[in-house]
Amino acid sequence: MYIDVKPLANNIKENIKKRIEKLPIVPKLVAVTYKPDDSTISYLKSQQKISKNLNISYEIIEAVSSRQVFVILKTLSNDSKVHGIFLTHPLPEIDELEALNHIAPEKDIEGRHPYNIGMLTYGKENFPPCTAEAVVKILDNFTTITGKNVVIIGRSSTVGKPLSIMLLRKDRSATVTVCHTKTQNLNTFTKSADIVIAAAGKANLISKDMIKEDSIVIDVGINIVDNKIVGDVSEEVSKIAKVTPVPGGVGKITTLLLMEHVVKSAELMFKYSNK
Ligand SMILES: NC(=O)c1ccc[n+]([C@@H]2O[C@H](COP(=O)([O-])OP(=O)(O)OC[C@H]3O[C@@H](n4cnc5c(N)ncnc54)[C@H](OP(=O)(O)O)[C@@H]3O)[C@@H](O)[C@H]2O)c1
Repeated sequence: MYIDVKPLANNIKENIKKRIEKLPIVPKLVAVTYKPDDSTISYLKSQQKISKNLNISYEIIEAVSSRQVFVILKTLSNDSKVHGIFLTHPLPEIDELEALNHIAPEKDIEGRHPYNIGMLTYGKENFPPCTAEAVVKILDNFTTITGKNVVIIGRSSTVGKPLSIMLLRKDRSATVTVCHTKTQNLNTFTKSADIVIAAAGKANLISKDMIKEDSIVIDVGINIVDNKIVGDVSEEVSKIAKVTPVPGGVGKITTLLLMEHVVKSAELMFKYSNK
């Protein structure tokens, strides 16, 4: 079966709307991009649509040079009317870590700044990476995490690694295994897992024979096959396990959490500017 994330998405949306109604200022998100590819442009358009729907002010700034990216990020970090900065990725010609260091951590609504990533290790999730947070929220909403054997496929700095830290937090206490391209016999890990989280970016990586019956499979992957968006998990897995759909699963929650982080940043900035 497929896991329906719509009720969770609606809850997050309603919560955002209520919080915005209470705010005397309009939360503002600015996306910064440089030489965006087609998928980046399409993602920015969907952000724009959701922002409008939620009454979040939204702007896209396209840098004309790699150096200008740093200048823009610094300027936005010092602009009191901007509450969230979204830096598109992949970023051609630019050292991503250096770019992230030009964003004020309190406006890093994606949770990618080294400060926010570092705070995760202390159990502080002020701005956790949105995709990792989306996976945790889906799991929290659907099952008990404590004591479960969780296998994460993928060790990127934005998804796999932060997610492993978040699932280890004492109040979640999963037993976590992180797999990658050098993992031998991936299926021996996935087959014994209660929860598999596929974040490899490889269409059909996970087949039915790799999964334990009645387990939970969270599909983070986004791949384009024959002009269609598919995840990392093949369709047949849903016959024996509970799987999040792609599209309309993790991605849907991720975008909403990004917006929630903008509202949180606006609330905090308003609170401290009025002290
Ligand atoms: N739904 C959402 O909101 C959302 C958000 C972000 C990303 N995504 C999607 O999630 C996927 C992962 O994103 P990412 O940024 O984490 O990607 P990434 O930086 O490319 O990392 C992919 C990870 O998967 C591992 N991997 C790749 N092929 C594998 C295989 N055959 N077996 C085992 N491990 C394998 C890689 O291992 P090595 O480290 O050994 O190379 C790497 O650690 C992509 O499809 C991306 O589009 C979705």
